[in-house]
Amino acid sequence: MKRILISGFGTVGQGFCEVLSLRKDWLMERYGEVPVVVAAMDSKTVAKCPEGLDPLALVERKQTSRKVGEETYSDSLEVLGSVDFDILVEVSPTDIKTGGVGLKNIEYALSHGKDVITVNKGPLALEFNKLMTLAKDNGCRIRFEGSVGGAMPIINLCHENLAAEKIRSVRGIFNGTCNFILSKMDNGQPFEQALKEAQQLGYAETDPTNDVEGYDTAAKVAILANAVFHRDVKFSDVKITGITGITPEAIAQAASRNMVIRLIGEISETKLEVSPRLIPRDHPLGISGTLNIALIEADLAGPITIKGRGAGRIETASAIFSDLVAILDGRAEKLC
Ligand code: HSE
Repeated sequence: MKRILISGFGTVGQGFCEVLSLRKDWLMERYGEVPVVVAAMDSKTVAKCPEGLDPLALVERKQTSRKVGEETYSDSLEVLGSVDFDILVEVSPTDIKTGGVGLKNIEYALSHGKDVITVNKGPLALEFNKLMTLAKDNGCRIRFEGSVGGAMPIINLCHENLAAEKIRSVRGIFNGTCNFILSKMDNGQPFEQALKEAQQLGYAETDPTNDVEGYDTAAKVAILANAVFHRDVKFSDVKITGITGITPEAIAQAASRNMVIRLIGEISETKLEVSPRLIPRDHPLGISGTLNIALIEADLAGPITIKGRGAGRIETASAIFSDLVAILDGRAEKLC
């Protein structure tokens, strides 16, 4: 029976516990057993039980007391070292400057031969190839479907269904907050008000500068460049322009030509860019709202378009669950 340790027990960690519980019977039917959560940590507290904790009780406790456990800790690596686990589900908030505690946790888990599932963009955008090498050298796996596009299945689609394809380019909208703001600005709403609404909906990053300056999209572009194009790039290699300079006048001018402005991330063998672009209103990349979309150009299959929810508690948990299933199926070897 696989033992799971969840680090960063925020909304996505809670969503994962809910999905584990919702799919309990399915897991039992498919594998004859259900993985157990042996520990869950938020930024200050930890709950542990070698026999397994009740996932819904963890959610309940976090929601009522704002703490996942009774025990406090100061060093997450000490907690990781004190728990017997097989899979680390790392869902701490993204720190795009240093990788933060998420990077330390992932490095620790991989170097101790534990599988990792993460949606934390910082460690992947900063140290992608180092982490893949660590996984390979220690005979374990790292999966990160939910790090790009949330529930929109882009990474596993490229690695599994499109495994034999040469992917020529990927262009897309990878930040729901920016797309929501730009869509609201299309209807005359001021930038600040639209950002506030996006924050209330729970889409924005802890520090929304990361959304509006294009850093969040750039992290996803760096992850795709490494994971899908097998390039060796870091976040700092991405050419980034955010949306803070987009004026209502620019939006109105675009509208007069039947165009919209959208923040596009683009990756190819030679390109690595995030910038606002003029998009014809009826083009697939002209979508409104919080959805993410990606236009993939594959050499044999040709153009493929995917669209889906790029954030959200249960949606992102769905992506984590798909990685868990890949690990339980033992088909999680070929990532790069
Ligand atoms: N802040 C991100 C967004 C969340 O708005 O898309 C998902 O990475």
